[in-house]
Amino acid sequence: MQNLFDEITQRRGSGSVKWDATPEEVIPLWVADMDFPAAPPIRRAIEQRAAHGIYGYARVPDAYYEAIIRWFATRHDWHISRDHILYTTGVIPAVAAALRAVTLPGEKVLIQSPVYNCFYYSIRNAGCEVQDSPLVLGSDQRYTIDFADLEAKASDPRCTAMLLCNPHNPAGRVWSPNELTRIGDICHNHGVRVLSDEIHCELIMPGHVFTPFATLPMPWAQDAVVMNSPSKNFNIAGLQVANIIVPDPVVRRHIDCAINLHETCDLNPFGIDALIAAYNEGGEWLDALNLYLWQNFLALQDFVQRELPHLRLTPLEGTYLAWLDVRSLGIPTTAIEASLKEVERVWVNSGTLYGQDGFLRINLATQRTRLMEGLQRMAKGLERLQTTR
Ligand SMILES: Cc1ncc(COP(=O)(O)O)c(C=O)c1O
Repeated sequence: MQNLFDEITQRRGSGSVKWDATPEEVIPLWVADMDFPAAPPIRRAIEQRAAHGIYGYARVPDAYYEAIIRWFATRHDWHISRDHILYTTGVIPAVAAALRAVTLPGEKVLIQSPVYNCFYYSIRNAGCEVQDSPLVLGSDQRYTIDFADLEAKASDPRCTAMLLCNPHNPAGRVWSPNELTRIGDICHNHGVRVLSDEIHCELIMPGHVFTPFATLPMPWAQDAVVMNSPSKNFNIAGLQVANIIVPDPVVRRHIDCAINLHETCDLNPFGIDALIAAYNEGGEWLDALNLYLWQNFLALQDFVQRELPHLRLTPLEGTYLAWLDVRSLGIPTTAIEASLKEVERVWVNSGTLYGQDGFLRINLATQRTRLMEGLQRMAKGLERLQTTR
């Protein structure tokens, strides 16, 4: 299985955002998708559908719901009722629908920066304001929550929802049941609805366990709105399929209306078949993938210790997105990103995109040889920038 992930793939010219929006010769370690082919059962399902030759409007079959329910029950001990599931074309469309359903323009939505850039846009697109409770970076480079600050922000009467990123992109945290419970208690006490984006929920590194927010043994857990998708985990983001799990019937009706208002209520036949194949048959591939991603992280960690000992890396608990602290260089990371791309021909994201200057986000989901080449280029560029500063 390991060799499968080591095999160099060519994505240039395939219409990939990650590769085709990247200048020639640049190694793209930015956009969060993976350079690996999808699991064989998914590819077979897509090939079968393609071979049929007719691609009319698709009806979502029972097998779709059954696959979701079985997967989350067996992998995460989360027992989802079929009638709680709404589908839409992506997790960001799900976030947009949830925000429209549970907030009013002018209200505030809590986030924990640094966080996925689209959270900022989605909140503003809903006519709301971002209410940030920044994560706290410890001396061990691990992010934790300042619960006193979270409570102070949640207690603002204009704050009505919290957009939680579980696991967290780009902080790499897999929130513990204790942390999630404290978040839930605070939100419940202040009338703030939790919208939990769990798109990265299967990308979990050894020693960590993902807790779906809705499995917390508290009555308020059933008030939460949970959004997930096989897209990030199985590298099928282009197939545009996601689900929203909403136990509360009134909120569910409002979100369903919002999905319809946004015209994002129809799935494509490939997305449906890929989801069914992923959840029914993708477990073994996913386990092998996580092992490979973990080894990539260890390779990065080793590289930083050897080649960039003055920089510090955040431990990776989940996702395939590493977070490197380059504040000691004293150079704005937007300038670092542009310069590395231009001169050494490697593209990593500036932390400013996620709300924090001084950090670089590195996508580890590529073949190890390519990752190491990208890291060599990055180290060379950082050295150049430091000496010419
Ligand atoms: C936390 C988070 N939510 C949502 C998305 C995007 O979801 P989609 O492509 O399904 O809209 C991403 C992509 O990186 C993400 O990191």
